[in-house]
Amino acid sequence: MTRSLENRRILLVIGGGIAAYKSLDLIRRLRERGAQVRPLLTRGAQEFVTPLAAAALAGARAHTDLFDRADEAEIGHIKLARDADAIVVAPATASLMARMATGEASDLAATVLLATTLPILIAPAMNVRMWQHPATRRNLATLLGDGVRVVGPNDGAMAEAEFGPGRLAEPNEIAAALEAMLAGGERPGGFGFLAGRAPAGALAGRRVLVTSGPTHEPIDPVRYLANRSSGRQGHAIAAAAAAAGADVTLVSGPVSIPDPAGVRMIHVETARAMLVAVEEALPADIAVFTAAVGDWRPAEVGQNKIKKDGSEPAPLRLVENPDILATVAGRSSGRPTLVVGFAAETDDVLANALKKIARKGCDLLVANDVSASGGVMGGLENTVHLVSRDGSVETWPTLDKDEVGRRLVARFAALLPV
Ligand code: CTP
Repeated sequence: MTRSLENRRILLVIGGGIAAYKSLDLIRRLRERGAQVRPLLTRGAQEFVTPLAAAALAGARAHTDLFDRADEAEIGHIKLARDADAIVVAPATASLMARMATGEASDLAATVLLATTLPILIAPAMNVRMWQHPATRRNLATLLGDGVRVVGPNDGAMAEAEFGPGRLAEPNEIAAALEAMLAGGERPGGFGFLAGRAPAGALAGRRVLVTSGPTHEPIDPVRYLANRSSGRQGHAIAAAAAAAGADVTLVSGPVSIPDPAGVRMIHVETARAMLVAVEEALPADIAVFTAAVGDWRPAEVGQNKIKKDGSEPAPLRLVENPDILATVAGRSSGRPTLVVGFAAETDDVLANALKKIARKGCDLLVANDVSASGGVMGGLENTVHLVSRDGSVETWPTLDKDEVGRRLVARFAALLPV
């Protein structure tokens, strides 16, 4: 066990849910990595685990009540909110998330979470219906917008004999997410905390393949079918992966932005050429399909410029292009460990994204709303939703595409098995 959290001071807020028993194991996992853990139990948590057990495992007293006089004399709630390197909330119940999202300071845990400027990692755990409820989705989006990091929930059988996302992430996963947050946090302190940068060298020794830009599907030597993709998001991901130490191949359709530094560039025009370039660039540990690949191409390509001849224009007959993402995700051998797709949607963004992740067979889908009003296609900013196979969705605040690229790369690095 590496002592990756040596001397890190962690305030562990334990919420009131059946998963609270796992937080005792989490204390041990954090301590074996060298962390100093100070537990704080909500009233609900104390129905499931005792402050004594938490204190015994932490080797530190457990905090429980806002108006505990001894507590306030020894260490006030404001000090609790400051006197650590990070706060972990595990389990983060629906109610605790709601209190955090609305800034309600009704008990010690919520007060500390409101008063703090420390980076916060939450590990949600609740019934699957509660997790999927629009209210929880809204609260999650708010918390993410505030810079809170999230680990889990995982898929699995729940205490109520239901199945789906809602299970607390495993203690080792929470510890790893905490390590990543502390390593990547370039701005500890404040709700503007951007926990998104992959630690230097996080992708050292890894191969990353990225597709970017539009494709041009020729009609004749001078005309083509294309789309409004600028390539900014894909290029930003490639640049961030290179900055994290990866060996990056960027396969790009025709764009007017410069090639990012430090990546192997392959310029292509058509979807079919992109597929060939992608297959030649494999194997890779991570493959990210950001390109807005033309779904169709003209069935016949004029050898010479098609002329007006005064009669009805000839109809443009289209045939479907190969699906590059689905082809790579479906490979039986040599499939990249992590296959990430993008979903360009103009309506029902999340519902369509959930269907698309299943259809394409990728591990993660980054959905963005590309309706004209949002200005995403060709623009500098992006609002993305990260959709996992288990149906969990994370909505990120609107960020410039470079920052989205850095955050995505940090996430990919965290998802790769060591
Ligand atoms: N993609 C691909 N090859 C294609 C079409 C799409 O690799 N021929 C990839 C894109 O790079 C993206 C994902 O598939 O990662 C989804 O692209 P999108 O345009 O949203 O979906 P489509 O498959 O085109 O489906 P639809 O247009 O019906 O929504």
